[in-house]
Amino acid sequence: MIAIDAARLHRRLDRLSRFGALPGGGVTRHCWSPPHEEARAWLLEEIRGAGLTAWVDGAGNVFGGTGIDGFGGGRPAVLTGSHIDTVPEGGTLDGALGVVAGLECLETIVRTKTATRRPLAVAAWSDEEGRYGSLFGSRAFCGLLDVAKIPEMAAVDGETLVSAMRRAGFDPARIPEAKAPPGAVAAYLELHIEQGPRLEEARVDIGVVEAIVGVRRSRVVFHGQADHAGTTPMERRRDAFLGAADYALQAREHVVTRGSGASVTNIGVVYVHPGASNIVPGRAELVHEMRDPDAAVLQRLATDGAALAERVASARGLRAEVRPMSATTPAICATRVQEAIERACRALGLTSQRMYSAAGHDAQNLTAITDAGMLFVPSVGGRSHRTDETSDPHAIERGTNALLQTLLTLADA
Ligand code: GLV
Ligand code: MN
Ligand code: MN
Repeated sequence: MIAIDAARLHRRLDRLSRFGALPGGGVTRHCWSPPHEEARAWLLEEIRGAGLTAWVDGAGNVFGGTGIDGFGGGRPAVLTGSHIDTVPEGGTLDGALGVVAGLECLETIVRTKTATRRPLAVAAWSDEEGRYGSLFGSRAFCGLLDVAKIPEMAAVDGETLVSAMRRAGFDPARIPEAKAPPGAVAAYLELHIEQGPRLEEARVDIGVVEAIVGVRRSRVVFHGQADHAGTTPMERRRDAFLGAADYALQAREHVVTRGSGASVTNIGVVYVHPGASNIVPGRAELVHEMRDPDAAVLQRLATDGAALAERVASARGLRAEVRPMSATTPAICATRVQEAIERACRALGLTSQRMYSAAGHDAQNLTAITDAGMLFVPSVGGRSHRTDETSDPHAIERGTNALLQTLLTLADA
């Protein structure tokens, strides 16, 4: 049985972690930002150095292939990968692991001259973290992107996708070219850190993903009246921040008590306008996110959230506005991919457990065009989307070997 080169894998993970590295640990590497573009250039060099073909599509997705140099009409390829962009003040493994491990598997296949019936490719999908819109690159690849909406796609700080892409030397008019032709992908398999505590607590080597949650994001805006914070009598104030605060507490309570049990919610962005300590806030904006593995539950919670915003606003003499920002649908992973991962684990003497993913992933878009699946390695302390995110190096090696054996099964199927 062939095996990956763990030293080469960890060397590359270490090198990638330096693009956008923060002084106290962790990394900030937004898609299209200078550190991201430096990481992209490095990755293309590594792909070529590994003996693979390299190409970048119109959405900025980076690919490395063996037996393939594009998706135009060749034999269907088995695809693996993840993303090299990060959240602000994120960790060094979220996304990076799946890309570097995918590259390591393909390099191992090439260097050992292992013959496969299907070509293989590794992808680094653009803007997985959704700074400008959720799961952007894989959405474009899978034909799930509404091209008419591209001009209005923007980060919460107002920077548009179009200007970010142009700054990085990309032409947004070419995004539609990223759509893969029908039948181009024979199967998709993504290795990722779990990002939660379940595998570590169960002392299991590998998580076999059955389903991936849907994520809804809305901008919830409360409009009140700006006023002098000293002279305006308290009972006359229409304080927009109080509407937002009230909504935040009640929305959490509602999702916890009326959700499915798996439902979660978060408010991670808050703006108060005009933002001065001596002005009663005239406007307050929240970005409210909800997740659940069941689309119907998510829809009900979103409807309830909009009604709650109205109730909270009218009780405080405010006006509420709820603007949907993004909605990914929950996805089911292919049974044959799950079984192939389990077979690989048995062959390698690894324990595995089926689970759903509470994080969003590019794999959920790939389920729209092919048999897609994921495998997880444990995260130390369940920590992720924070600078001290980490996994045991041996767990990473085990996961990459499980990825390799599963890819070989899928490429011969
Ligand atoms: C992806 O990182 C997510 O937010 O789930
Ligand atoms: Mn992430
Ligand atoms: Mn990720």
